[in-house]
Amino acid sequence: MIIIKNHEELKKMRRAGRITAEVCDAVARSVGPGMTTAEIDRCAANMIRQFGAKSAFLGYRGYPGNVCISVNEEVVHGLPGPRRIRIGDIVSLDVGVVVDGFVGDMATTIMVGVSDPDVIRLVATAQQALAAGIRQARAGNRLSDISAAIEQVATAAGFSVVHDFVGHGIGRTMHEDPQIPNFGSPGRGPVLRDGMTLAIEPMVNLGVAGVEVLEDRWTVVTRDRRPSAHVEHTVAVGVTAAEILTCASEKRDN
Ligand code: MF3
Ligand code: CO
Repeated sequence: MIIIKNHEELKKMRRAGRITAEVCDAVARSVGPGMTTAEIDRCAANMIRQFGAKSAFLGYRGYPGNVCISVNEEVVHGLPGPRRIRIGDIVSLDVGVVVDGFVGDMATTIMVGVSDPDVIRLVATAQQALAAGIRQARAGNRLSDISAAIEQVATAAGFSVVHDFVGHGIGRTMHEDPQIPNFGSPGRGPVLRDGMTLAIEPMVNLGVAGVEVLEDRWTVVTRDRRPSAHVEHTVAVGVTAAEILTCASEKRDN
């Protein structure tokens, strides 16, 4: 069952989304070569605390970090640890926080001095795929219109989308119905309604779509170990357009 949020609930989702974005943007700005992913996680933990929020990830199914940090061939759920960021890396930073009982979830992929044109194009394509998915998140459309739009952008650019992990509904808990695949034909699945809140999160691979989970039981990597880009926004379905909830105050009009 897909939960529709009322006006008051949307207000709280907006607040959770704003703080998620403030944290994600601030941590993203602090990422540089030489930093370990554990240091990035600690920076995120401090930011989350400063906003009076809580990590939605820490302790989720035993997850040991505050955020997920996935470098290059790591797709999602990268565990904070000793890995050092190097020039030329791409770093997916996935942040989820709980504020006043509601969850915001977003991810960005940062390029650290990347010069490889294919990698630059990969990151740009993931961002464009997310934007295309969000454009479909309006009342009256079907859920798979989002999925199809994402896949179309990624494959038209010559990349592949991950099939094994999906976006999701979000609200009082991080994962609500529905699941949102990043592939499929349009016109299928539930009709989208005003007030649904969705976390849309394309994972776009430079090489093959296949992924595997490392020994640490969390870190998802590409099978061919080529790079993957991951971006995510929490959005509210609207009558004429979606509203991006994971948007920092400086970029907002409300
Ligand atoms: N954004 C991811 C998701 O929606 C991150 C959660 S994984 C966690 O599933 F285990 F760290 F929580
Ligand atoms: Co998510």
